[in-house]
This record gives sequence, C-alpha cells and structure tokens, in this order.
Amino acid sequence: MDLYEYQAKELFAKHGVPTQSGVVVTDASAAVAAAEQIGGMVVVKAQVKTGGRGKAGGVKLAKSAAEAGEKADAILGLDIKGHIVHKVLITGAADIEQEYYVSYLLDRANRTFLAMASVEGGMDIEEVAATKPEALAKVLIDPLVGVNAEVAASISDTAGFPADIREQVIEVLQRLWDVFVKEDATLVEVNPLVKTPEGQVMALDGKVTIDENAEFRHADHAALVDLAAENGLELKAKEKGLNYVKLEGEVGIIGNGAGLVMSTLDVVAYAGEKHKGVRPANFLDIGGGASAQVMADGLEIVLGDPDVKSVFVNVFGGITACDAVANGIVQAIALLEGQGEPVTKPIVCRLDGNNAAAGRDILSKANLSVIHVVETMDDAADRVAALAAGA
Ligand SMILES: Nc1ncnc2c1ncn2[C@@H]1O[C@H](COP(=O)(O)OP(=O)(O)O)[C@@H](O)[C@H]1O
Ligand SMILES: [Mg+2]
Repeated sequence: MDLYEYQAKELFAKHGVPTQSGVVVTDASAAVAAAEQIGGMVVVKAQVKTGGRGKAGGVKLAKSAAEAGEKADAILGLDIKGHIVHKVLITGAADIEQEYYVSYLLDRANRTFLAMASVEGGMDIEEVAATKPEALAKVLIDPLVGVNAEVAASISDTAGFPADIREQVIEVLQRLWDVFVKEDATLVEVNPLVKTPEGQVMALDGKVTIDENAEFRHADHAALVDLAAENGLELKAKEKGLNYVKLEGEVGIIGNGAGLVMSTLDVVAYAGEKHKGVRPANFLDIGGGASAQVMADGLEIVLGDPDVKSVFVNVFGGITACDAVANGIVQAIALLEGQGEPVTKPIVCRLDGNNAAAGRDILSKANLSVIHVVETMDDAADRVAALAAGA
C-alpha cells in the first residue's frame, strides 16, 4: 500500500524524523483557514499517490491565506498522471538552501536492502541515476545489522553530504531506518531532504510503501487505507476473504489455484485476440475447497463488475471434486437469484480432474441457459471470448 505524502510525514514525525506538519483540506475555504492558522507563506501540495507533482503544477507557493485558497482551488480536481486531486496539504513554506535525496528500498536482485542517497536531490532522481550515476550513492544494508550510526555515516560519506550537516544526516538516516523496519515498509523515500539557511535538515516530501503482508502486526495501519480511493470490487472481495484483483478487460475469470488462474488469464488474452481484442476482467482464485457459498461470493463479485460481459469458471478438481464444484455453481446461481441478483451473463464452465464427468453431468442436467459447458481449456477460452465479444 502506497501512502500519501501527509501520511508518510506523520510516520516520519512518529519516529523522530524532522519534518513539517500541515493540514489536509478538500476545499478552498478550508485551505484559507489552514493557511491563516499556519501563518506566513505556505505551500499548497496536491495529495496523490504519484511523484512529479511539482512539475505537473501540483505544488504551489502562496504568500497569503487568500492566495492559498486560490491555489487550492486550482490544484483540486487536477489530473496528475491519471490521479485526480481530491485533497491538498497546506504546510509552511520552508527556506531551502540545498535539496538532497535519500531512500531505503528492497533490493530484490541482491536479496537485501539498499540505501540510496544523493546531494543532488529535488529533481528527478531517475534522471540523476541515468545521466550522472556516480552522483547517486548506493549502499547495501545488512539486514542483521540495519542502519546504526556507523552504517549511516558510511551512507552519508559515500553520498558526500557536507560536513556541517553530517551529524544531522546520520541521525535522520537512522530514524528513517526505524520507519522502514518498525512500520514494515518496502520503500521509504525522501526527495527532497533539505538544508535550510539556518543549517537545519528536514524532510519536505515523503514516499512510503507499506508491506500489506505485515498488516497483522499493525492494527494502526488500517487507518491509513483511503477507502474512497480503493477499487470498490476489490474492497468487497477483501471483506469476503477472496483473492481478487480487478483488471481492465471484459471476461470475468474464476479459478481454483493461483497457477491455474494465471494461465487462464493467458489463454483468455490469447483467445481474445481473435474476438475484438477482449481481455480478462479480473484475477480471482477461490482456492482449493471452494464451497457453494465461496462460489456464490466469487460469482457475485465478478458479475457485479459492469465491464464483465461473460465469465469463465475454470476448475481442476482435486481434493474438492468436480461434482461438488458443479453443485456449488448451480447453488450459487440459485443463491444469487434468491438475493434478487439473477444471473444473465453467460458463464462458460470447464471442469477437469477428479470426477469431471460427474460435474459436467450435473451442470447439463441443471439445464440453466446461462451455463455453457466446454471440455477443454482452450475451447472454453475461445467460447468465453466470443461471448464477451457479442458473438
Ligand atoms: N514545504 C515546502 N516549502 C518550500 N518548498 C517546497 C515545500 N514542499 C515542496 N517544496 C518544493 O517543491 C518541490 C516539489 O515538491 P515535492 O513535495 O518534492 O513533490 P513532488 O516530488 O511530487 O514533485 C520540492 O523539490 C521543493 O523544491
Ligand atoms: Mg518529491
């Protein structure tokens, strides 16, 4: 889960990283009130989960509270790389003498953690990395040691931070490592970390990605989820404990086992090339022992997606045999009908493995017009794509 800048800075403050507090608002009049409360010059900053807001016109200086209202008005509603701005952060304008870059991330290639730092921060760090790689220091972090004062000093010295702020940078690097470890983050990035004319070092921007697999350790992270910005179907699926990911196509996919579902996405995408380019609409793995209720929940989510034109149920019977799955499908359709959500979109079922013939027999005998039983995975993919394309 990516955090907003203001959330990242809240975590920074919690772990002792010097930063500026601010007020998050959603309209111009609240922006004026916030600017009055902060006093002096303020910065109005778009809160969207993407970088490059400054370049896109999403970060503006305001000399007065009235101007802060005008800037907020101009920034709210902006589209920054496909992200619409619904909230802005009003924060004090800092005097900046120098901008730097620091980050911690997971280095998959080296199977460890990586610190990156540069005294040429502020602008696109990707550009620095591409055009002046020597200006971006990279220091591998031993996870068993972490970032202690000694490691922090080596990061600071490799990057070439000036002597007058070296001690502060060493402290900030250790506090940011606390954010990384104690909050179970996979990314902590500060761009820019700045030095003020008074020689004070602080974080003016923050990007933090939280590892959702560690959710169970952090009850407080639930408050960081922005429900309004989440996909509604994904939220509903999560509530029902389903492994669902929304994609952009028209063919709903339900399968048992992540590997089978992945290959189902592939065969449907391939078949779709012959049928107006239709594509899979989602990933949904209902797991091994799928009951009628789980099948009903899955069908409800997938059929509830307005983009879905047809559904492919691809099941390989194992411990849960195909006849049980077939009964599940039939019961699921009745369950949905009972809930006032009659199924009208075509469902192509391919059952293979344990008791496949019995399963197919159950589906045929149920005599439901929305169900199409197809024997092989490729033929089923072709049929479901054709149905989605309106054939
Ligand atoms: N509080 C602030 N005071 C003064 N300047 C700021 C402040 N916040 C950001 N800036 C300036 O705006 C630039 C872009 O802001 P930043 O928060 O880094 O957004 P982004 O990385 O999305 O462009 C910064 O590099 C800095 O020069
Ligand atoms: Mg930035």
